[in-house]
Amino acid sequence: MTTCPPDTPDAADRDWMVLGIETSCDETAAAVVCRRRDGTGLILSNMVRSQIAEHALYGGVVPEIAARAHLEVLDHLIEAALREGGIGLEGIDGIAATAGPGLIGGLLVGLTMGKAIAAARRLPFAAINHLEAHALTVGLTEALRPPYLMLLVSGGHTQLIAVHAVGGYDTLATTLDDAAGEVFDKTAKLLGLGFPGGPEVERRALQGDAARFAFPRPMLGREEPHFSFSGLKTAVRHAAASLARPSEDDIADLCASFQAAVAEAIADRVAHAMAAFSHTLPAEAAKRFVAAGGVAANASIRRKLMTVAEAHSYTLHVPPPKLCTDNAAMIAWAGAERFALGLTSGLDAPARPRWPLNALAADPNKSKSEPKIMKVT
Ligand code: KG4
Ligand code: ZN
Repeated sequence: MTTCPPDTPDAADRDWMVLGIETSCDETAAAVVCRRRDGTGLILSNMVRSQIAEHALYGGVVPEIAARAHLEVLDHLIEAALREGGIGLEGIDGIAATAGPGLIGGLLVGLTMGKAIAAARRLPFAAINHLEAHALTVGLTEALRPPYLMLLVSGGHTQLIAVHAVGGYDTLATTLDDAAGEVFDKTAKLLGLGFPGGPEVERRALQGDAARFAFPRPMLGREEPHFSFSGLKTAVRHAAASLARPSEDDIADLCASFQAAVAEAIADRVAHAMAAFSHTLPAEAAKRFVAAGGVAANASIRRKLMTVAEAHSYTLHVPPPKLCTDNAAMIAWAGAERFALGLTSGLDAPARPRWPLNALAADPNKSKSEPKIMKVT
């Protein structure tokens, strides 16, 4: 379908022009993404408004403040995304909004806004699983489509996933305690570096000595495929406590040593998965490794993943840092991929604070293992 104004780029190639909305955590985001007929993607606009300032005082995300902040800016942000995309609502073919997992208040703001626009304009609607959007981003950035093996590393999740198809996912490994992003954030908080911690820890680590503190590499060499980070978190806390007044150099060394431990722990688990699961994957998936989610923006972790992938004859595919962290372009793209397969959601699609990828059937509203009621957990 081609409903975009003829003066916007590549009008003849256009398949789906989608407005995406993301409000699952502390970033309000709106984006316009085009899926071309050949299956490639084009980002027309990608607006992200971070709530860092609102939450800074509390050292973490406060759900009620997050929901209110989404509500205050979302309509302006959507207008800005349409303006920057050079397109009005009349040029949009479908609406996609994050339905979960995430904070219930924020999810309801974005989901309700998406449904309202879809209803008013009589457009198809897609209720998007945020994890699926991370998982499919490489389709937008480099036209890479499932199947592939994937590492999802974000603030709430650390998982190895066999991505079979849009809507078809098997979780092979997960974290037994904290997510990788969570330990970056907790380490940063401990060292007084602000929130979110990942980018600042990475910046400080550049000046530090990664060999100064011998932090544990949790799960190293273990047969079970899972991750664990709480022991590392405790070790960093003890090391920091052992320094009477950590200097800037001490903090840099702590960050560098911590980051090296996370990178090595992740690399070991990925290497283990490549060795243990490759024979269970379709031949194509056993050659292609994707990393996504906020922590995949970390340059030192990306380098480590490259080494592991090469050693196991996989190619590595990671979105650019801006599309690893939360954004609405990935939500719009997941919507476009679903629309292209003829998959849409009803306007009664619920917000799902918990929504594991395994439970995602081809149509999120027909998921059997998740109740259709809205639940607060
Ligand atoms: O994917 P994301 O933006 O949101 C979730 O879905 O959770 O991931 C956010 C997480 C935060 O914990 C943040 O500290 C971490 O990703 N992160 C990083 C970096 N940039 C963001 N961690 C390490 N290095 C980074 N450069
Ligand atoms: Zn995310």
